[in-house]
Amino acid sequence: MPQLAINGAAPVRTKPFPAWPMNLDESAQAAAETVRSGRWGSIQGEQVRSLEQRFAAFQQAAHGIAVSNGTTALCLALQAVGIEPGDEVIVSAYTFIASASSIVMSNAVPVFVDIDPHTYNLDPDRVEQAVTSRTRAVMAVHFAGLPADMDRLGEIAGRHGLAVIEDAAQAHGARWGGRSVGGIGAIGAFSFQSSKNLNAGEGGIMLTDDDDLAEAARSLADCGHVAPGPRYNHYRMAGNNRMTEIQGAVLLAQMAHLETQTDLRHANGDYLTERLGAVPGIVPVSRPAKCDRHARHIYMFKYSANAFGGISKTRFIEALRAEGIPASPGYSIPLYKQPVFRNRNYGIYQSPALSDVDYDALYMPVTERACSSEAVWFTQSVLLGSRDDMDDIVRAVAKIGNHRDELGETG
Ligand SMILES: Cc1ncc(COP(=O)(O)O)c(C=O)c1O
Repeated sequence: MPQLAINGAAPVRTKPFPAWPMNLDESAQAAAETVRSGRWGSIQGEQVRSLEQRFAAFQQAAHGIAVSNGTTALCLALQAVGIEPGDEVIVSAYTFIASASSIVMSNAVPVFVDIDPHTYNLDPDRVEQAVTSRTRAVMAVHFAGLPADMDRLGEIAGRHGLAVIEDAAQAHGARWGGRSVGGIGAIGAFSFQSSKNLNAGEGGIMLTDDDDLAEAARSLADCGHVAPGPRYNHYRMAGNNRMTEIQGAVLLAQMAHLETQTDLRHANGDYLTERLGAVPGIVPVSRPAKCDRHARHIYMFKYSANAFGGISKTRFIEALRAEGIPASPGYSIPLYKQPVFRNRNYGIYQSPALSDVDYDALYMPVTERACSSEAVWFTQSVLLGSRDDMDDIVRAVAKIGNHRDELGETG
């Protein structure tokens, strides 16, 4: 008699995990009121301005500048700190494409660095080794909602005169040593895309404590206009990257729940880590003590095929899904192996500095391992479930471990 659901036995659960987004009626009402107001653009309305103030305060930053999406927020943050053509910007090899494409789209050169095997965030020792005379900035990606080591990165950046740009697209509400992310470095960028812990379908925001950077970022977000000067005077080469009032209204409605949801994800994340860590062959990606709130945009653990009788990560995930647990393998290739980099397909961003780099020759063992055989992900809304839901995850993983012989596949 088979025991595993993938072989026809009863699954651990059939109930879905919480759907995302939540609190739809509140958002629908906020959006409808804004639509009825007739003030749909941020030049006329108050929603985006209010979101900028509230989100900046939530993240303990002095200034917030809302934009159309997180990629744009990163591009404009790079431009605001003065990245110039040919400059090098150090970035993690294990992150979403936008962390690196924003560098290319700023005419700069991404320099990939491997991740720390315990946190899956930028490894500060490797960052130090990657600094050259052309390095101008480090992009501190707070991957999965875990703050990068801002102490070490800040210290390295300070010694080499580099700007720290925070890619906090996945890290709403995350804290490092009591300080919320986004305003710890020179400038930070968040995403409000539909999967994110705070979302309006699309959207983004830059945060900074620096008055001059804030003014530059605001001008870059708004056609080079400099407030409160005349509307049709333009001082910088910049497009229209503004957020709409409807996005602003939805985000304000969603923000009412951000604190509670973040605390719940953090607590469930720690609970899962304690329990999953007890299953042979499973090592949760660690949360350093200095991170006193993890945003848990993604819950990640490291799977070891050896402890599961050689069953591949792909097969393990298929078995987990059959048990009713929505697991994902995450990125299948390191960022430097993406076709755009392998084929040097940079379009209008082609430059001699970039074309000289042979990304195809790179091999970063920790990132390679995470992609091919190790990393297993759950998305953030799974962490908004109950303790029973978390127990189901542990039960399913342990069940697969106990009946691994049934999976009949090796390698
Ligand atoms: C780490 C990271 N950086 C940047 C972005 C880009 O944000 P957006 O999708 O809003 O452009 C994302 C979002 O997917 C992300 O996960």
